[in-house]
Amino acid sequence: MTTDNLQLKKLNVALAERSYPLYIGHGLLGRPELLTPYISGREVMIVSNTTVAPLYLERVVAMLADYRVGTVVLPDGEQYKTLAVLDDLFSALLEQRFSRQVTIIALGGGVVGDMSGFAAACYQRGVPFVQIPTTLLAQVDSSVGGKTAVNHPLGKNMIGAFYQPRCVIADTATLDTLDDRQFSAGIAEVIKYGLIRDREFFDWLELNMAALLARDPAALIYAVERSCQNKAEVVAEDEHEQGVRAWLNLGHTFGHAIETGMGYGEWLHGEAIAAGTYMAADLSARLGWLVQGDVERIESLLKQARLPVRGPKALAVERMLELMAVDKKVQDGSIRLVLLQGIGAATVTDQFDPALLRATLEQCRT
Ligand code: NAD
Ligand code: GLY
Repeated sequence: MTTDNLQLKKLNVALAERSYPLYIGHGLLGRPELLTPYISGREVMIVSNTTVAPLYLERVVAMLADYRVGTVVLPDGEQYKTLAVLDDLFSALLEQRFSRQVTIIALGGGVVGDMSGFAAACYQRGVPFVQIPTTLLAQVDSSVGGKTAVNHPLGKNMIGAFYQPRCVIADTATLDTLDDRQFSAGIAEVIKYGLIRDREFFDWLELNMAALLARDPAALIYAVERSCQNKAEVVAEDEHEQGVRAWLNLGHTFGHAIETGMGYGEWLHGEAIAAGTYMAADLSARLGWLVQGDVERIESLLKQARLPVRGPKALAVERMLELMAVDKKVQDGSIRLVLLQGIGAATVTDQFDPALLRATLEQCRT
């Protein structure tokens, strides 16, 4: 790839008066001019966690020299994505006397982003919000589109709101400090875009997975940009998930059941999604919608990305089914799943024989 591929990319999430830009590039934390136009008052609260703050907080504070800046550092981990920790965040905002003019900035992965976004949606009935995602998963998925939430012991992301940020700044240089396991978890969501609506991107991923795993800057920027382009188009078409946005949940009904069933934080979100994606492919093949060759391509790409393609044996099939039945896509008591009618062609359906779903769950365990 040429150096053109390393230049700043700007995409747009088209939502009328709530439209916002996504900036993608290498080294953006040194560019305050990308951030400050999206801060309307003089007050900023940066929310991060105990891992990301020591790495990047100072740099973000330095971008905000002319503002009153507060910081709050949350504990790190999916198990802290709770109402109790959210309450601590509200306490920090109130103790530091932030008014409704404050802009909340999320600096971190999807956990920090989802919690900060929900806090921004609620604090004094809603304050502006900016996302600075620092994991691959957050850069390609969770920072874009305005889904915010915390987990409940009975179900993943069950308490939340749709609340769009004012802008998203994805600095791919921050991914250098991410460990390999977390990096791979992000690739699960990248592969998802190819599978649901972008066959050409899936082909590109098959050819370029090695460069991506080596974190080649040009490959990384291309993968983040193409993923965000897909996400931005879907969100612009269906912000509140009445239709095509549900495709973005490929593998998620299976995956959320794994995350909840195993205990939050045991399986990484992206790992659970990868296993869930394989299960969705397996069920699609049982329904005769996907040819075996495509199932093998999906399995091989997920494995190449060092992702699991089977669920945990420790989670009984009955328990999986129970957990899948509290998914947000459940309607009138029936489990609705995102399945595949080919690579690049997703569909949402509850029209499947439950015995086939059971067979998938039984087969896809290690
Ligand atoms: P995460 O936020 O837990 O981050 C993963 C780990 O990487 C954490 O330990 C974090 O501290 C660390 N980290 C973050 N940035 C780093 C960096 N640059 N260098 C080193 N370490 C770094 O997990 P995630 O995978 O980013 O996000 C998963 C969460 O996102 C889940 O809660 C999931 O439900 C949510 N999600 C939300 C949406 C949405 O649309 N809102 C979409 C997908 C996932
Ligand atoms: N990650 C699913 C969505 O944003 O809709």
